[in-house]
Amino acid sequence: MLVLDDIHKVYGKGKDKKVEALKGINLRVEKGEIFGVVGYSGAGKSTLIRCVNLLERPTSGKVLINGVDLVALPPKALRQQRKKIGMIFQQFNLLQSKTIFQNVAMPLILEHRPKQEIQAKVTELLTFVGLEDRMNHYPGQLSGGQKQRVGIARALATDPDILLCDEATSALDPNTTESVLDLLRKVRDELGITILMITHEMNVIRDICDKVAVIEGGKIVEQGPVIDIFTEPKTQIARSFVKTVLNDAIPRSVQRLIDESSRNHPHGIYRILFKGASTNMPLLSNTAKHFDVDLNVLHGMVTELQGIPFGNLLVEFKGSQSEMEKAIQYIRENNAIIKEVGEDGI
Ligand SMILES: Nc1ncnc2c1ncn2[C@@H]1O[C@H](COP(=O)(O)OP(=O)(O)OP(=O)(O)O)[C@@H](O)[C@H]1O
Ligand SMILES: [Mg+2]
Repeated sequence: MLVLDDIHKVYGKGKDKKVEALKGINLRVEKGEIFGVVGYSGAGKSTLIRCVNLLERPTSGKVLINGVDLVALPPKALRQQRKKIGMIFQQFNLLQSKTIFQNVAMPLILEHRPKQEIQAKVTELLTFVGLEDRMNHYPGQLSGGQKQRVGIARALATDPDILLCDEATSALDPNTTESVLDLLRKVRDELGITILMITHEMNVIRDICDKVAVIEGGKIVEQGPVIDIFTEPKTQIARSFVKTVLNDAIPRSVQRLIDESSRNHPHGIYRILFKGASTNMPLLSNTAKHFDVDLNVLHGMVTELQGIPFGNLLVEFKGSQSEMEKAIQYIRENNAIIKEVGEDGI
């Protein structure tokens, strides 16, 4: 439903001043999906999201919403389409001299909607975000989390199909972040609104996104369902983002044990990843029963991604080379991912 087709954005003119912020972005966000774009500072995230509602005009490429290319629309038709796209910002962008009610009402006042309709709609929106008792307060009297709730209510005033979020929780503490993310999930679940969010925080991606794209140097280097990127990141940058929330590095004390025991026994250290149903299977005990190997769990954790259990274990295998190989093959056949530690940076 939202498709970005080969979007390029070049800032500035002349050889020395040109900045190529986006270099051919292709994305497809389905209706009702929460799609995250993650990247480091300067990667082009804000430029990307601002190109979706044409706050920045792409230098080339198409922005298709339900098949209509916004870039090609004349100004009046573009204004109509833009009402279907709401946006929230890291710094909330509220008018300090207006009340919460007036802030949320602003998009409707600009459309000259009847007073009664505005009263009803703003009351409904403020109730939805849990701030109906703050209508007559000013932004300066609210906490950061409450200000972002006002930002969300304002973005919903024109009944958008798509909500764009530019680092919407980056100015908030972890607990407040969680409650704002819960509200965004409610926006999707109850109103069916498609959400495109950009962030540098991988916990935001883990907590609410269905799909994620990793942007680096103006290009998408990897994308897919959140569970896939978390369990099998392919690029170094995706791996480093995943590590910020799934700390699966080998603890130093464990590393010492590994080093000591490797002097005395033939062994191998493997990382075993389980997702979904395979998390519940007694795979390790079955492996030890079927093959002449000793298994020693050195480190591990089980977490949940998108409601799917995900286990990550570091296991030492001891035994003859041929038994170890058979055991590894067996684990692989039972839908777990197994990799020798040291292989491709794990
Ligand atoms: N108006 C502008 N004029 C010239 N260059 C710009 C402009 N806006 C952004 N850039 C450049 O484009 C590149 C991408 O910037 P952008 O703001 O999209 O990054 P970002 O991923 O949002 O970073 P951050 O996480 O710091 O917000 C950077 O090199 C930046 O300096
Ligand atoms: Mg930015």
